[in-house]
Amino acid sequence: MSELHARIAGIGRYLPDNVVTNDDLAKIVDTNDEWIRERTGIATRRIEEDPEKGAAYMAAEAARVAIDRSGFAPEEIDTVILSTATPDRFLPSTACDTQAILGLPNAMALDLTAACSGWLYGLTMGEGMIASGRSKATLVVATEKMSGIVDWTDRATCVLFGDGAGAVVLAPANGDGTGIVSSFHCSDGNLGELLWRPAGGNICPMTPQTLENRDHLLKMNGREIFKSAVRSMAQACDEALSRAGMTGEDVDLLVPHQANIRIIQATAKYAGIPMEKVYVNVDRYGNMSSASIPVALDEALEDGSIQPGMRVLAPTFGAGLTWGAVVLQF
Ligand SMILES: CC(C)(COP(=O)(O)OP(=O)(O)OC[C@H]1O[C@@H](n2cnc3c(N)ncnc32)[C@H](O)[C@@H]1OP(=O)(O)O)[C@@H](O)C(=O)NCCC(=O)NCCS
Repeated sequence: MSELHARIAGIGRYLPDNVVTNDDLAKIVDTNDEWIRERTGIATRRIEEDPEKGAAYMAAEAARVAIDRSGFAPEEIDTVILSTATPDRFLPSTACDTQAILGLPNAMALDLTAACSGWLYGLTMGEGMIASGRSKATLVVATEKMSGIVDWTDRATCVLFGDGAGAVVLAPANGDGTGIVSSFHCSDGNLGELLWRPAGGNICPMTPQTLENRDHLLKMNGREIFKSAVRSMAQACDEALSRAGMTGEDVDLLVPHQANIRIIQATAKYAGIPMEKVYVNVDRYGNMSSASIPVALDEALEDGSIQPGMRVLAPTFGAGLTWGAVVLQF
């Protein structure tokens, strides 16, 4: 087993109270419960209705729990890495807005953009900060208000996503054997337009025409994304496991990115992990982009699916394209 540098000192999540069912969506787009369940495994998702409660609000709610549980005082958090595909505004960062809400006077704060893979990328960045001695307590938080960027007239995408946030505090490994065992990450920018928001940046600024075309909202080539997801999650599992000196048989729980039950099943099958050892909450929350894995980890710890001594494999995949996996020892 590789040397452990960083451990998870605290974890937390935030989910909006408002539950939206497939039948609710069938009232606004031409879809139905059966189609959504069969193709995706999704039954409900949470949607934050309050426009005042943005990505920073949700991040702060999740992070407050993680910090409380970590035993660190807010003053001791020295780094905030925040993953989001749904920033509240272009400038400043959602990380700085979150820092302001929480009151973390001694932290540097920055956003990380890697779509659904962002929290895992952040975990590895945070591990590097801890391993180098630059940080004693790094908050890695993912917050996604997907309801703000999906096109609510596009049935092919709007049924897939949900809102939520998850956070951990990373601290130096303390010899108790828990922590981040291995990681693997990769990107392929050539495939950026499989899942993207065409308008709103420098190349295609927002105009009345782009607004009318709804080009500022999420566009997706579902079939191609599906194929890439299965391929990359498989590679990510292989790489992270081999770097940990493990095989699928050594994994106690698979906690994959929760985009679609069929992608999850394909990943588990490839890695040789039976579905009884897979944590699934896509049925309840849909795809919360980078918040999916930390929310699932927090729930799995709370409901006893993760016990001390267990080894967890968490693979992810998202826009960019980006993908990766980590092995965690609890
Ligand atoms: C989106 C996804 C569920 C679509 O499933 P699919 O089996 O590929 O379905 P298709 O795109 O082939 O569409 C099949 C039909 O269903 C229709 N359809 C699409 N969305 C629908 C919906 N919500 N309700 C009913 N019908 C729908 C399509 O219009 C199409 O109709 P047509 O055959 O008359 O053209 C699937 O491609 C997927 O999960 N892709 C990955 C998406 C993802 O995970 N993105 C995030 C990555 S982090």
